[in-house]
Amino acid sequence: MQTKEIIREIERLKKEKNAIILAHYYARPEVQDIADYIGDSLGLSRQAAETQADVILFCGVHFMAETASIISPDKTILTPTEYAGCSLAEGASAKGLQKWKEKNPDGLVVSYVNTTAEVKAWTDYCCTSSNALKVVESLPKDKKILFGPDRNLGAYIREKTGRDMELWDAACFVHERISTEAILETLELYPDADILIHPESAGAHSQEVLTNERCFMYSTAGILKHARESDKKQFVIATEPEILHFLHKENTGKTFIPIQPENRCFHMKQSGLWEVLEALRLNRYEVKVPADIREKALFSIERMMAIG
Ligand code: 13P
Ligand code: SF4
Repeated sequence: MQTKEIIREIERLKKEKNAIILAHYYARPEVQDIADYIGDSLGLSRQAAETQADVILFCGVHFMAETASIISPDKTILTPTEYAGCSLAEGASAKGLQKWKEKNPDGLVVSYVNTTAEVKAWTDYCCTSSNALKVVESLPKDKKILFGPDRNLGAYIREKTGRDMELWDAACFVHERISTEAILETLELYPDADILIHPESAGAHSQEVLTNERCFMYSTAGILKHARESDKKQFVIATEPEILHFLHKENTGKTFIPIQPENRCFHMKQSGLWEVLEALRLNRYEVKVPADIREKALFSIERMMAIG
């Protein structure tokens, strides 16, 4: 089948099934181009909650589809491939979290959205990279915070808030490679550029980076906003490089340099147009979080949504 035919058939099936396609900024460009909504983790969760569609085809990774299932249990949530993982979600187990809580009975558990539904079920407050700061700042000052699973995002939030935070020890394999040295090197190489850094990056919480006036830490949606609104012409992008597809679409006359062009998330690249078509045609692969886990996990997501 030709690409054009595949796209036509995807559009037809979407109408027939009252389906929408949600894609993350790290998804393959051709998948982003046919999506009804492209967003960061928070934006995608909001879309899953607000859509009138009966079917949501989620082109991201598994934990994102699970989050959609927790938020919208009456909708059919599909993913184009059977399982697209995430090194963060796989870095924390519900059992481990339970033990951590037992050791710290007065601690409040704040979990990054990059977690399994089971981990969310043991969580007090969920957060994404766009609202982690706000969520932590909203918690009672006398409470210790158990933050997981991303040690880099956790360390960044701890530096910014000065809160008493114990961190789980996991990291995203892509952002772990974006070190302080790599960031400092780009500052020298591109003296006119702003450096837009995802806080999952290993270098995002070092003093050299935190105090540099050309370094800015943002979620993927925040990176896009900064690039859109800035008068600068050159930006180094310190996150998964597929975000450049959207940056180029939105901005003409600006230059975007990926800090590490080959440092990609293979989980996010699993789905192409063919997999999207097959998912709609065959109603696969359905993601459904069991009701008992869903109820508990929803609590932490709703608390996050209420904070912002
Ligand atoms: P955000 O889209 O929330 O910035 O998170 C990035 C990410 O790593 C998603 O897997
Ligand atoms: Fe997970 Fe990192 Fe891939 Fe995002 S980029 S899905 S955090 S492994």
